[in-house]
Amino acid sequence: MSTHATEPMLEVQRLRKVYGSGPTAVEAIGNLDFSIGKNELVCIVGPSGAGKTTFLRCVSGLLAPTSGEVVLEGRAVTEPPEGMAVVLQDYGRSLYPWLTVHDNVELPLKAKGTSRAERTRLVADALEAVGLAAAHKKYPWQLSGGMQQRVAIARAIAYQPHVLVMDEPFAAVDAQTRADLEDLVRRLWKQLGVTVLFVTHDIDESVYLGQRVIVLSHAPTFVLEDVAIDLPADRDQLSTRALPEFAVLRTRVYELIQRAKHTNYRTHGQATAP
Ligand SMILES: Nc1ncnc2c1ncn2[C@@H]1O[C@H](COP(=O)(O)OP(=O)(O)O)[C@@H](O)[C@H]1O
Ligand SMILES: [Mg+2]
Repeated sequence: MSTHATEPMLEVQRLRKVYGSGPTAVEAIGNLDFSIGKNELVCIVGPSGAGKTTFLRCVSGLLAPTSGEVVLEGRAVTEPPEGMAVVLQDYGRSLYPWLTVHDNVELPLKAKGTSRAERTRLVADALEAVGLAAAHKKYPWQLSGGMQQRVAIARAIAYQPHVLVMDEPFAAVDAQTRADLEDLVRRLWKQLGVTVLFVTHDIDESVYLGQRVIVLSHAPTFVLEDVAIDLPADRDQLSTRALPEFAVLRTRVYELIQRAKHTNYRTHGQATAP
């Protein structure tokens, strides 16, 4: 169980989502109820098909919940919120192939009404932060998968969101790039003071990145446990992952997910995991 002293940024209140109706209905979210403090970096981990993407679509206002609600900075989310940026798993489809890297990153700022001078500065800073300053005139199809995903991240941070939401953003990149991008997320989180909600199915990644790891059951999903990650704030791919505490935490999360395969929401409801 984790507590946080800061004011809540995102409150998820008795959220439930059923797709369709009748005999073919799919209950994706059983009941989710938790809150995330301002400036927290929270990972959500759960098996494939758990309902993670469904949850993020509710959080980002793209999908209406069946019941319950998501409250962002005190206001119920009913449409894509102004202060939120979302990075999806499928970066291939999230960038516009006919726009340069620069123009892809700039587009949401234009939509937001940011002045030209401010846009130029924000785009340059964001591309610098993800190490792509030199690629600003290139087109997405001229870049590797990892670089395209960094463009998507640059676009999200240039937007200066209060909340950055990421759905398995590194699932399709190679291991070395993935490690670099993980460190980039931690660095940006510290620099920008943004609240980060990071969804992954990778247990090690969730422990390495998060201050908290919220472990979800399979669908219809509920919170199995909210695990506090009390690792040092300065993390390093080699030394942090080699810590005995890291091994204890990853084992804990692994066991929860294994046990979840035999745990049913109907019988256990919101009960905390054993
Ligand atoms: N548009 C949809 N219509 C019907 N069922 C869906 C839809 N999207 C997802 N589902 C189902 O909801 C469950 C959760 O899916 P999803 O949220 O994508 O899980 P995850 O992201 O954790 O892999 C799965 O059983 C999936 O098949
Ligand atoms: Mg998903």
